[in-house]
Order: sequence, then structure tokens, then C-alpha cells
Amino acid sequence: MAMKLPIVTLGIETSCDETAAAIYHSERGLISSTLYSQIDLHKNFGGVVPELASRSQLEKISPIVYEAIQRAQITLDDIDVVAVTNKPGLPGSLLVGICFAKALAWSKNKKLIGINHLEGHAFSACIEYDIPFPYLCLTASGGHTSLYLIKNFGDYQVLGETQDDAAGEAFDKIAKLMNLPYPGGPVIERLAREVDFKDFYYYPRSRHKTLDFSFSGLKTAVLYDLVKKNAYSLSTKTFLQGENEQFKKEVASSLLVCIADIFEQKLGLALQAYPYVKAITFVGGVACNKYIVERLRVFSVAHAIPFFHPSRDYCTDNAAMIAFVGNYKAQQGLFADFTLDINE
Ligand code: KG4
Ligand code: ZN
Repeated sequence: MAMKLPIVTLGIETSCDETAAAIYHSERGLISSTLYSQIDLHKNFGGVVPELASRSQLEKISPIVYEAIQRAQITLDDIDVVAVTNKPGLPGSLLVGICFAKALAWSKNKKLIGINHLEGHAFSACIEYDIPFPYLCLTASGGHTSLYLIKNFGDYQVLGETQDDAAGEAFDKIAKLMNLPYPGGPVIERLAREVDFKDFYYYPRSRHKTLDFSFSGLKTAVLYDLVKKNAYSLSTKTFLQGENEQFKKEVASSLLVCIADIFEQKLGLALQAYPYVKAITFVGGVACNKYIVERLRVFSVAHAIPFFHPSRDYCTDNAAMIAFVGNYKAQQGLFADFTLDINE
């Protein structure tokens, strides 16, 4: 049964290494969004360490939720619905958010909704923009790379997804090969910017005609190219060009051009298959990359189709997108019960 308007939704996101909360008001829109990022905790490990991530989630969840409530200038009693990411993600991290959301919903008699994190990303551009349906959404982050046909709120179809690594994962793993810190994407973009954007090493692009992605081959191709250029030792697993900034910049630049080409190729195929779409959105952590965003904007102009791209805070993991999806699910009466878990 649908709820009466207005609805105040608390969104909670703990699927990986961010602890986030947000309040969405069905008439006023997003009224607060808070986040704690664990980047410093994982920086020296080349990726997220699940055990550290879940312990940090437990420490931060309560202050982050209360900060969101305070910033929204409401009280706990004003909240009608608790929407929480319940999949996909690191089990330990997800469980912290779900248990917190259930405890809150149970003790304060709120409605509970489980949100698929990927649905959050897929609609994240709608927080700030009125996007016409149907649209194509390219989601690229550290854990996922998918192409969606979005038909309406809550009504979408997966057209393609990565068969192995995600695009952000490719940035992170290649950065690790070159002894650069986690997360790799921002560092690689910074390096590439210093030599302009040029394809120095021409890494391979898959030319498969499907809408699926694959990035593990790219990582391997870069690895073997580094070995061939005496830049990496397979036996000691060390990068041998530590001081050679120019070389790192050229690898970074080549990588960006390659990934932008792959995204353009897939969007081109999708537009052939679904010529009636009215817009393209590009979301997820990799959509913080200004070069790739610009390439896709130019691509969209060339195809005479509007292009939307969320602000940085809604590209990377956040709870605003979870509260936003929670709000329309609440209006559709799609509530969970207290058996909600991470596998549904
Ligand atoms: O969406 P997100 O915060 O978390 C996941 O759901 O994974 O995305 C994080 C990913 C990381 O892999 C990071 O390297 C990548 O987004 N990323 C970037 C940039 N900023 C973050 N990739 C390319 N260029 C960037 N500027
Ligand atoms: Zn994400």
C-alpha cells in the first residue's frame, strides 16, 4: 500500500568503504547528505581491506546518521522511512548498515526498504536533473561497470555489464602496478593531465559487438607492455620506473584515452540498438574523470542526444542516491520486512 505524501526518507549507504546518510523529502527534495570516506585507511593496501572496512563502518554509522538528521533540521520522529543499501557490496560492511537501519525502524516504528546500490547509481543523475525517460545510463565505478536502459523510476533493464573487472578496478590495479596509491583513478587522471591527452602506447580495445565490458585483459595488456619496456619486474613484482614521471604520465594518458574509447564504442552500439532513447547519463566514481566526461559529452552532442552527469558528490558512493530511490519506492509502497538481508 502506497504512503501518504509528504514522505521523509532516511537513506543509509555502507556497501563498501564509505559510511553515508541522507534525508530526502518527497516535496522539498534532498535536504541533507553526510559521508565519511575510509580512503586513508586503505590507501597503502592498493584496495579496500574488508575487515578494516566493516570495523570502520561500525564506528561511524551512528555519528554520520545523526549528522544527516541534524543538518536537515529535523528530528528522528519526522522520518517515515529508512532506506538502506542491502546489496551488492562487502558483506561485513552491508550488514552494519542493515542492522542499524532495522534497529532504527523497529524501535521507532518506521517503514524499512532495501535498496540495490546499483539502482542508486542508475538514478543518481535524477537527484539534480529532470531526465526524460527512457535514457541510457553508463555506471562505472570501482565495483561495477554496467549499461542500463532506464524506462522509468524503478523500471530498468541491464543491457551489458563487466564480465570481469570494473573500469575503476582497472584504474586501481594499474595504479598499483606503478606503485601509485589507492584509489588509482584520481592519481592517473592527474598524471595524464600533465602530458595532455594522447595515446602514447595504444592499449588494446575489445571490439566485441555485445554491450558487455571486459577490463581484466586491459590490465594484463598494460602489465605485459610495462614488462616489455623494462618498466616492471614480474619476478619481484616491482615497478622499475619509480622516478620516471614522464613514463607514468604517458601510461596514464594512454589508459584514459583507451577507456574513453571503450565507453564511446559501447554507447554507440547501444544507440544503434535503442535509437529511441532521449538522454545519456554517466555516473559512478569513474564519472569524476573530467577527460572521460568531456569525451562522452562531445560524443552525445555528435549524436544529438542530451547528456547528464551528476556532481562529484553523487558520482562516488553516497546516501543521497539511496534516499532518492527509497523515496520513490516508498511512494510505490515497496517496503521490506525485518527478514531483509544481503542476498535477496
Ligand atoms: O563509485 P565509487 O566511489 O565506489 C564504488 O562503488 O566502487 O567509485 C570508486 C572508483 C575507484 O575505482 C576510483 O579509482 C574511481 O572510482 N575513480 C576514478 C576517478 N575518481 C574516482 N576513476 C577515474 N578517474 C577519476 N577521476
Ligand atoms: Zn558504487
